[in-house]
Amino acid sequence: MNVLVTGGTGYIGSHTCIQLIQQGYSPVVVDNLCNSKKVVLDRIEQVSGVRPIFIQGDIRDDAFLKSVFDEYTIDSVIHFAGLKAVGESVEKPLKYYDNNVSGTLRLVQTMEAANVKSLIFSSSATVYGDPASVPIKENFPTSATNPYGRSKLMVEECLRDFQHANPDWSITLLRYFNPVGAHTSGLLGEDPRGTPNNLLPFVAQVAVGRRQKLGIFGNDYPTPDGTGVRDYIHVVDLADGHLAALEKMAHQPGTHIFNLGTGQGKSVLDMVYAFERVAERPIPYEFKPRRAGDVAECYADPTYAEAILGWKAKRGLNSMVEDTWRWQSNNPDGYGD
Ligand code: NAD
Ligand code: UD1
Repeated sequence: MNVLVTGGTGYIGSHTCIQLIQQGYSPVVVDNLCNSKKVVLDRIEQVSGVRPIFIQGDIRDDAFLKSVFDEYTIDSVIHFAGLKAVGESVEKPLKYYDNNVSGTLRLVQTMEAANVKSLIFSSSATVYGDPASVPIKENFPTSATNPYGRSKLMVEECLRDFQHANPDWSITLLRYFNPVGAHTSGLLGEDPRGTPNNLLPFVAQVAVGRRQKLGIFGNDYPTPDGTGVRDYIHVVDLADGHLAALEKMAHQPGTHIFNLGTGQGKSVLDMVYAFERVAERPIPYEFKPRRAGDVAECYADPTYAEAILGWKAKRGLNSMVEDTWRWQSNNPDGYGD
């Protein structure tokens, strides 16, 4: 069964392609390579034994997208393609609305024309804004604190309206908490451009000697050790969550919303200490002021996903950190040039 995977050479998309192949699906990858590299396809093949079909192009290019649906019989679409840097989205909001919102609308229009009615969308826990309490359930109020988050919220709302008007469609919104980790093979992982914005890639680059010191944004939050608490989830567990959504929801009409998280909150210092243990070296750090837009605590109530999808995160903190470290130490410069 062909599954169109937009953004399939990216971090989460590439791990999902491996799980898809291993479950007997045929991923058809579309990516414009604005934030990933072609060598990822070699790595997917090395791990899974199958090279996914790859068509380089932009989801905002209607003619290109139509040609993909004309050439391949697509059963469902998993839509990862998007931009994700919060800071950049504040500087260049139109770039984010164009790519994330307009790109998704064009994808859905092309799906409609091709009579493909099953979509799984990469949303984010960022749509919960600053939650009034934790753990967070799917029915909590949503809000956005930056253009990236607003683009996810806008897409969610557009997709709900569209599904309401087209009740035979199945649209699944997966709200990811904090994806971390890498494939256990050490062949695939996260390869951020420039200075990493996210915690674990930054810590990994300190451990491998690419950066001198971690700055911890705030040690005066109302949390057990004063640093921010998040729900870090192994990227392979997240990929498996897409498989579960594909199997259980792809042919169930409706708009379906799931948190994909572990339900466990970990602080910045928990992550630093775990990394020090695994990498067997100190991670130098200093406390800095809070980062604008950060919340004290954010972690999921994942029970709905377990009840409906039969999916639950299996990999704990040690696997997340060990796999990150294996990837980072085997590939100190990521995927290279
Ligand atoms: P990523 O940047 O590694 O992957 C996204 C891929 O999409 C890249 O390969 C990029 O080249 C491609 N792409 C972007 N715009 C495109 C376009 N217009 N046409 C074709 N390809 C395009 O990011 P990721 O971490 O794998 O995230 C995947 C999705 O999950 C994104 O939508 C992101 O917003 C969402 N998400 C990510 C996180 C996270 O922490 N990584 C958290 C929540 C949600
Ligand atoms: C960030 C984004 C969020 C996005 C998510 C996943 C912001 C405000 N939010 O969330 O929209 O969905 O990434 O891509 O950018 N930290 C440090 N030092 C660092 C980096 C991070 O102390 O160098 C801390 C943060 O303050 C936070 C925790 O580590 O407490 C996790 O940060 P990060 O990995 O950036 O994820 P989020 O802030 O949860």
